[in-house]
Amino acid sequence: MRATARAHANIALVKYWGKRDEALHLPMNGSLSLTLDALYTTTKVTFEPALSEDRFVLDGQPAREADRAKVSAFLDRVRALANTRVRATVESANHVPTAAGLASSASAFAALAAASTRALGLSLDDEALSRLARVGSGSACRSIYGGFAEWRRGARADGLDSFAVPLASAEHWDLRMVVAVLEAGPKAVSSREGMRRTVASSVFYPGWLAGVEADLADARAAIAARDLDALGRVAEANALKMHATTLGATPPFTYWRGQTLVLLQAVAELRARGVGAYATIDAGPNVKVLCAPADLPTVQAALAAVSGVERLIVCAPGPGVTLLEDA
Ligand code: DP6
Repeated sequence: MRATARAHANIALVKYWGKRDEALHLPMNGSLSLTLDALYTTTKVTFEPALSEDRFVLDGQPAREADRAKVSAFLDRVRALANTRVRATVESANHVPTAAGLASSASAFAALAAASTRALGLSLDDEALSRLARVGSGSACRSIYGGFAEWRRGARADGLDSFAVPLASAEHWDLRMVVAVLEAGPKAVSSREGMRRTVASSVFYPGWLAGVEADLADARAAIAARDLDALGRVAEANALKMHATTLGATPPFTYWRGQTLVLLQAVAELRARGVGAYATIDAGPNVKVLCAPADLPTVQAALAAVSGVERLIVCAPGPGVTLLEDA
């Protein structure tokens, strides 16, 4: 009745941006990501017949009620699969440098899916685990796999064909992703609300959708060929298109801060000097930079020189979700 799992965060190189079904987290478009070694969540789930409700302890503290309720709703799905009503204690630790604004729902729900199913004696294959994690948070379906993964959007209304598949393991290609964390307060628009508003109102959203399949094909080919310039260019262009959609929404919004643009300029200057560095940005102001291991010191120096950069987190390709021996 107890199991522990670890899952790593992933950063999309072709973004998931927009849902066609809010409850099941069915995406409007496919996406593709790199799982990272340095950012992960470890989660222990213990089903206990004596409990009258689920408990959720995050980094040693009782979690906020809204987060506890999300975890509990997710566990309801797992309980339905196992045909049980037993409640659980969920203890999670986020191994993300504190206050980096990177707390990841992807690693959290991938770890919770693996630990909770194992604790109830269910053995799901990766495809089923990916589908389950998706219902917790869309991007979590990609964190089942190490290295590069692609989330196939699927077409069915029940979501059975919407899950991630592995593209290449962490060992396939040694890359670095440097996360430049900016000093910034909490964001005004969550990714959930941002997607909703963009799909509902952005005049640029059709343009976003029109380009995704070609970006996915280019990214897959670049990964297979280990072509950093090709992968970096498609990833950076894809991120800029995603962020452009927010400016066309009603009301318009952006996740960028002034220093986000300064970081993008620093990356462009690196390239002008012949350094292969490429940026991507998620639903926040931080900039993540892809480069070869040999260029890491140059990239770190350029990013650290930008004012407002609080810290740099250096990541390499990381592993998929794993079950851990219980302590
Ligand atoms: C910009 O997976 O956090 O990071 O499905 O509502 O939980 P929900 O959203 P979430 O969105 C991630 C959006 C993104 C792009 C990406 O990771 O592909």
